[in-house]
Amino acid sequence: MSLQLSLLPPVAPPTDFIEDLRRFSLDGAETVEVEEGGLRYFVNAFWTAGQRRGHSIHEISYRACFKSELPGFFIERLTSPGDRVFDPFSGRGTTAVQAALMGRAPAANDVNPLSAMLCAPRLDPPAVAAVAARLAEIDLSVGVDDPNEADLLAFYHPDTLRQITALRSWLLGRGDALDSVDAWIRMVAINRLTGHSPGFFSVYTMPPNQAVSALSQRKINEKRAQTPVARNVPAIILKKTRSLLSDGFPAAHPPAILLTGAADRTPALADASVDLIVTSPPFLDVVDYEGDNWLRCWFAGIDPACVRIDKHSNIVSWEAFVRRAFGEFARIVRPGGFVAFEVGEVRGGKVLLERHVAAAIEGLPFDILGVMVNQQVFTKTANCWGVNNNKGGTNSNRIVMAVRR
Ligand SMILES: C[S@@+](CC[C@H](N)C(=O)[O-])C[C@H]1O[C@@H](n2cnc3c(N)ncnc32)[C@H](O)[C@@H]1O
Repeated sequence: MSLQLSLLPPVAPPTDFIEDLRRFSLDGAETVEVEEGGLRYFVNAFWTAGQRRGHSIHEISYRACFKSELPGFFIERLTSPGDRVFDPFSGRGTTAVQAALMGRAPAANDVNPLSAMLCAPRLDPPAVAAVAARLAEIDLSVGVDDPNEADLLAFYHPDTLRQITALRSWLLGRGDALDSVDAWIRMVAINRLTGHSPGFFSVYTMPPNQAVSALSQRKINEKRAQTPVARNVPAIILKKTRSLLSDGFPAAHPPAILLTGAADRTPALADASVDLIVTSPPFLDVVDYEGDNWLRCWFAGIDPACVRIDKHSNIVSWEAFVRRAFGEFARIVRPGGFVAFEVGEVRGGKVLLERHVAAAIEGLPFDILGVMVNQQVFTKTANCWGVNNNKGGTNSNRIVMAVRR
C-alpha cells in the first residue's frame, strides 16, 4: 500500500491548478482569462458531453444535478486516492459517487433523506444476480391501499400501482433488516417512478426528475388522449440495474460518510478532515425541490414537511445562507484544502451568483482563486463571463474556487 502511494503523482497545490486551467486545451480551444467585478474568470470548454462520458452508474436523474465530469475534474487534479472529498448539498450524490470511482473517501450530506437513499447504494452496488433473486422473492401480487390512490392512478395503470404499493410497503416494512440489495432496489424504483418512456412505471409524463402534480398529469393525459398502460415493475428495475452497472463496479475506496441534515451543521465530520469540497447549493428559489420530489418522497416514506430545504427569493438571505455554509466549511476543510462551489445562471443573467458568494464569504478564512466557467458550446466571441453572457442557448457552469487558508 505504501509503495503504491509513493508512486502516485503529487497533488497539485492550488496555484498550480490555476496554471493548469490557464494552459488547458481540449480541441484546441484556449482558456480565456478576464477580470470582472473584482473576480478573475477562467473560461473554456473544460469538459463536454461528447468527449468524456461519465460512468454508467451516474445515470440516475435529479433536479439540477451536475455532470460527473465536474467533480471528476477537481478530484483528479486536487486530491490523491484516500483523500476525503465532500459534497454538503449532495442531491443524487454525483460528487460522492465520482469520488468512490476514483478511490477517494466519499462524504455527502443533504437536508433531504432522499439524497442518501440515492447515493449510498451506488457506492457499493450489489451483484445483478442478487437483485434478481431478491425481486423474485418479493410478492407484488397484493397491493396496499393508499390514501393517495386516486392521484396515483393519474400516473399508473391499476396493475402497476398494485406492484408499486406492494414494493413500497415491503421496503418500508424491512426496517432495520433493510440490506444493501433492498437499498439498491429502492434507489432504482425511486428513479423509475415517472418518466417519458416505457422504461418507467408511469404513463408519459415530464422527465423523471420533475414529478408533476396529479392535477397536471390528468391534464397531460387528456391532452395526449392517453391512459396508463400496465408495466412490469421488477423487469424495469432489473433492466435499469443492468444498465447502471454496464461500466462495472466502483473501485475499492475508503468507507463513505453519508449525512442527512443542514449543510451548516455537519458535526460527524472532524475538524480539518476534508481535502476537497465540490458542491452546488440551491440557486435562490429557482428549483422547487419539494414539489419535484413529492412522488419520490411518498415512495420512500419521507414526510416532506420534515425536510427544510433552503429556498431564498432574495439575495440578502441567500448570501447569509451561503455564509453559514462556508462557516462550517472553514471548520471541516484542512488548511490548503479546496472548495469548488458551483452556482447557476439565475434571473436571466441579471444576478451573478458568484459575486454574491464572494461577498458572502468575506472575512472567512478562504482565498478566492477565481471563477471557472465551463462553457459547453465554446466560442471565443461569446461574452461569456459578464452580465451580457446569459443569452439563451449557452449552458455554462460557474464554479467559485476557494482555498482554505
Ligand atoms: C443543486 S442541488 C445539488 C445537486 C447535486 N450537485 C447533484 O449532482 O445531484 C441542491 C441540493 O441542496 C439540497 N439542500 C437544500 N437546502 C439544503 C441545506 N440547508 N443543507 C443541505 N442540503 C440542502 C437540496 O435538497 C438539493 O438536493
